[in-house]
Amino acid sequence: MKFSHELIEKNSALLVLLVILVVSVGGLVEIVPLFFQRSTTEAVEGLKPYAPLQLAGRNIYIREGCYNCHSQMIRPFRAETERYGHYSVAGEFVYDRPFQWGSKRTGPDLARVGGRYSDDWHRIHLNNPRDVVPESNMPAYFWLAKTPVQADDIEKHLQVLRTLGHPYTDEDIAGAKAQLAGKTEQDALIAYLQVLGTSIKTKR
Ligand code: HEC
Repeated sequence: MKFSHELIEKNSALLVLLVILVVSVGGLVEIVPLFFQRSTTEAVEGLKPYAPLQLAGRNIYIREGCYNCHSQMIRPFRAETERYGHYSVAGEFVYDRPFQWGSKRTGPDLARVGGRYSDDWHRIHLNNPRDVVPESNMPAYFWLAKTPVQADDIEKHLQVLRTLGHPYTDEDIAGAKAQLAGKTEQDALIAYLQVLGTSIKTKR
């Protein structure tokens, strides 16, 4: 039988198959090279995997749903870089599983909030945001200061991340529990916030 376009147009199964083929070629050409590109797969210089306390804080950030109001992704636009600092690059997120880019900014982006405020500022702010920013509509997270951070699964967490390629040493894992001893959930969350975006030096 001679090939004709009519054949494809009249056979919907064949049409669907060919559409999937064409679309996936387009997709793969865009996506696959990123897996092999150093700028998207390798950590930026100076990026360290999260220390145990920071990692525990990150878990609290996720548990409390902070990402519902805060993004962690500075786009390369002047309005954003003037306000937040250097735009985010892929190599900053290689130790983020899953990444916390978010998609909603009820509050400001937090990608470079590390070092912007003191620990004490964060304590007051988390206990009651309105004590430092009167017009804030951020909820208060006062119980974090009274809740000891959970330490029983931190070693396991580091071990799992190591199997995924995060460079933790045996000593890091063995010492993880000790680093969480006596700390509150608020201590952990602040340790996490204070490291965000600090591997790239910015003017701010
Ligand atoms: C209902 C939305 C909402 C949620 C949920 C929320 N925030 Fe906020 N956040 C805001 C708003 C609005 C601001 C700006 C006013 C202020 O500073 O309080 C803000 C400000 C901040 C700031 C100061 C940022 C800056 O650059 O000035 C930090 C840090 C912060 N939030 C951390 C958190 C953390 C950690 C959590 C989760 C425990 C959280 N937020 C949950 C709305 C939210």
